[in-house]
Amino acid sequence: MPGIVVVGAQWGDEGKGKATDQLGDRVDYTVRYSGGNNAGHTLVVNGEKYALHLLPSGILNDSVPVIGNGVVVDLDVLFEEIDGLNARGVDTSKLIISANAHVITEYHKVIDKVTERFLGSRRIGTTGRGIGPAYSDKINRLGIRMQDLFDDKILRQKVEAALEQKNHLLLKVYNRRAIDADQVADELLAHVDRIRPMVTDTSRVLNTALDAGKVVLFEGAQAHHLDVDHGTYPYVTSSNPIAAGACTGAGVGPMRINRVIGIAKAYTTRVGEGPFPTELLDADGEKLRQDGGEFGTTTGRPRRCGWFDALVVEAAVSANAMTDVFLTKLDILTGWERIPVCVGYEVNGERMSTLPMTQTDFHHAKPVYEYLDGWTEDISGCRTFADLPATTQAYVRRLEELIGCRISGIGVGPSREQSVMINDLL
Ligand code: GDP
Ligand code: IMO
Ligand code: MG
Repeated sequence: MPGIVVVGAQWGDEGKGKATDQLGDRVDYTVRYSGGNNAGHTLVVNGEKYALHLLPSGILNDSVPVIGNGVVVDLDVLFEEIDGLNARGVDTSKLIISANAHVITEYHKVIDKVTERFLGSRRIGTTGRGIGPAYSDKINRLGIRMQDLFDDKILRQKVEAALEQKNHLLLKVYNRRAIDADQVADELLAHVDRIRPMVTDTSRVLNTALDAGKVVLFEGAQAHHLDVDHGTYPYVTSSNPIAAGACTGAGVGPMRINRVIGIAKAYTTRVGEGPFPTELLDADGEKLRQDGGEFGTTTGRPRRCGWFDALVVEAAVSANAMTDVFLTKLDILTGWERIPVCVGYEVNGERMSTLPMTQTDFHHAKPVYEYLDGWTEDISGCRTFADLPATTQAYVRRLEELIGCRISGIGVGPSREQSVMINDLL
């Protein structure tokens, strides 16, 4: 039957990689449909830690890993990741990549970094991987696609066209050196023999697989609140990581999606700039960061930490029509006497129970907390809901009420087996 989407319900790093891996060997295809190597998904399998940036988590199980048309691909990163996995004995030979996926080139990375520097205090805090500029070129119809690598002449023309305006900008506005079009094309073409056997019409492959009753899992990167349309714009990424993005980013119709699994952390984190009402700038925030190991997989930046914000997750539940939520890192909350959960905002003296409509109000939102009882027992060995202490169960049940979605799984540790399953996710 199904097409299943895994999507982040907050601002990223919720544990999507681990949750995707959880479905593991029952999945036939695992598809990345948005973003690029701005993502960092950490998985712990048989005691071994893997950090994936571009490859779908399905690379570590038996499913066919797919990079869809909605992804932007840095070929150097792709091959570095493949080589790193091969050196550890992981087979990557089944990987397929969409001919329509766009490539990230040297000039996208340069422009990402100089524009951030130029923005100064208005910067987004991007990962500096060239993601925004690559998507801008795609929308501007100046992008380079995987298939362009197979036509030397066309590739050179396209790179030249893409650089025409950018070099003026680099030279005259940003005071940087111009970038040589031929050099960029040569660097891309150096990968052509290796990439050729992987590139195909992945939309066709996936639709044929779905017709045959195969299980296809669409693995989201980033999250609902980093979505360029639905997130905290302009502090967002430049793609559509929401569940609907699986349709455009993989080339499947909406009727193919049977299940949408939202991944939410038992507290909240965010990397980069942008509003974050429950952020803790005190010792409590530092404790969450240390206990949770909240340092970016991609850039190593310390993640901003705060309490669970039910309004943030509820908005994601609603807009993605989530059928299930997988609550991760509940083990990290062990040891707090009482745990604040944000159940509303106060904005200029007015109480709100859903996310504000405007950016201005979001920036002024003050969290209204409800305090839930904590627990001190180590829950990392729990495997059923009944194993959890009564107050832990009550925390989960209250979150369910607040977010308007059932919680079907709970993460109690980073390893594949450290989960409490309540409802089957397949
Ligand atoms: P993603 O980007 O959504 O895949 O999440 P990241 O991999 O960037 O960040 C999640 C981090 O938490 C990783 O280091 C995971 O190994 C870890 N993790 C995932 N689930 C759990 C959990 O339930 N408990 C604990 N303690 N760690 C977890
Ligand atoms: P995963 O898949 C957390 C954030 C960046 C920045 C903003 C824009 O691991 O959850 P970009 O480089 O995309 O133009 O940066 O988005 N960001 C993420 N934050 N997790 C991610 O991915 C992210 N990908 C991008 O920090 O604020
Ligand atoms: Mg991450």
